[in-house]
Amino acid sequence: VYQSQTTLVSKLEALQCHFTWDLDTSRSKLFRCRERFEDFFTEDGHSWLGHIYNLRGFMEYKLGFTEEAQSFFNKSTEAFCQIRNADEGPWLVVNYGNLAWLHHHLGDPAESEAYLTKVDALMNEYQYPSQDELHPEIYAEKAWTFIRFSTDKMLLAADYFQRAIRMQLVMVEWHTYHVKGLMFASKHSSTGLGADILEKMRIAKEQDPENLYFAVHYLEHCAKKGEIIKDEACKLAREVLRNPISSYSGIKPLLRVYRNYVSVDEAIDLAEEVLKNHPDERYLMKCAALCYKWKIFFSDSPQKQSMVDRAISLHEEVISLYPHSSLGKKIDLANIYSKSTNGKVKAKQIYQELLKSDLDQAGKQMLYNNYAKYLNFQGQDRTSSLRYHMKAAEIPQQSIFREKSIKVLKNIRDKGKDRMCREIQTFLENLQEP
Ligand SMILES: *[C@@H]1O[C@H](CO)[C@@H](O)[C@H](O)[C@H]1NC(C)=O
Repeated sequence: VYQSQTTLVSKLEALQCHFTWDLDTSRSKLFRCRERFEDFFTEDGHSWLGHIYNLRGFMEYKLGFTEEAQSFFNKSTEAFCQIRNADEGPWLVVNYGNLAWLHHHLGDPAESEAYLTKVDALMNEYQYPSQDELHPEIYAEKAWTFIRFSTDKMLLAADYFQRAIRMQLVMVEWHTYHVKGLMFASKHSSTGLGADILEKMRIAKEQDPENLYFAVHYLEHCAKKGEIIKDEACKLAREVLRNPISSYSGIKPLLRVYRNYVSVDEAIDLAEEVLKNHPDERYLMKCAALCYKWKIFFSDSPQKQSMVDRAISLHEEVISLYPHSSLGKKIDLANIYSKSTNGKVKAKQIYQELLKSDLDQAGKQMLYNNYAKYLNFQGQDRTSSLRYHMKAAEIPQQSIFREKSIKVLKNIRDKGKDRMCREIQTFLENLQEP
C-alpha cells in the first residue's frame, strides 16, 4: 500500500537534493550550462564525477529529457560507489533524493517510495548529532552545485564548505573548493583577495597538488601581488599539456596568466600547440579563439591579415560547435570584423542579426552594452550608442555589462556637455536597482 499522495509529496519536499534547492532553471541557462558541462573531463575517478552527473541529470530532467536524466542519475550512483569505494554511504543521499523525485514525476510512486526509504535508511545510519546541521557530504554537494550552477549563491556555498570541512576534515578536494568559493565570492569585491584567502589558497594547493586548475589560479594571484611568475607559468604549461584536456585542466586560466604576465603572443603559441595535439577538441578551439581576440582587441597597431583570418575562422568554428552558448563569441566575431580593413559591412550585418534574435534578459544586456560600444567606436552614431547603454542599464539584472553601461552614462552626466545630459540624468535618477 502506497502512502497517500500528499504524504509522499511532503516527504519529497523535505529532501536535500537538486529538486529542492531552488536552482534557477531558465531554458536558455540550462542549454548554456549543458554545453559547458559537456566539456568537463569525465575520466573514471574524477573526484567530482558523482556531483557532475547528479547536476547533469537534473538539467536533463528540466529540459524534458527524462531518459537522459535517469541515465545520468544512474551514472552518478556508480561514480560515487567507485570514488568512495563503497556500495552505500551518506554521499548517496542527494542522488537517491533526485531519483525519488524523478520517479515521482514519471508517475511511479512505488519506485519513488523505494528511494525515499533508502534515503531514510541512510539518514538513520549516518545521523548527525545536531538536528539543524546537514551531513558534511550533503553540505559539500550543495556547495559544489551552487558554485557550478548558481553564481549568485557563492557566499552561501563557501559557508557550506566551511561547515563540511569543520565536520569532516579528510576530504582534500573540499578544501580546494571551499577556497574556490571564497575566491569567486571576492572576485568582484573592491578590496580584492585578502591575505587570509591567499594563505588558505596556498595551504589548499599544498594539500591538493594534483589540482592544476587550482595551481594556476594561485599563481595568478601571486602575480597580482607583484611576484615574477614567468618560469612557474611555463612549468605549469608543460604539466597542463601532459594531462588530458578538459575545462578542468586549467588551460584557460593559464592562458589568461600568459596574456597578463608573459605575453599575448606566447599565449597564442601555447593555445596553438595544445590545439595541434587535440585538433578536434572544441573547448581548445574556444580557448584559442579567446587568445586571438585578446591580441586583436588589446593592441594598438593593425594586425596582419593572416592573424585576422585565423581569428575569424576559429570564431566561426566555435560558434557552430556551441549552438546554445556562443552569443559572446558572435559579438566577438562582429567586433573582430569591425576592426579589420574589409569587415565593416560584415560586422554591421552580424549585429543586425543579433538584435533581431530571440535572447533572454542577460543576453540582451550583453548585446546592448557591446552594440553601444561598437556604435561609439565606429564614431557614427553617438546618440544611438547612448540609447543602447540605457537599454542595457534598464534591464533589471545585475551584471558586468550593466555596470559598464551605467558607468558610461554617469560619465556623460558628470561632464555635462552632451546634449543628452539632462535626459540621462533623469534616466539615472529613475533607474531601479535590480
Ligand atoms: C538505471 O538503473 C536502473 C536500476 O538499476 C535500471 O532499471 C534502469 O534501466 C537504468 N536506466 C538507465 C536509463 O540507464
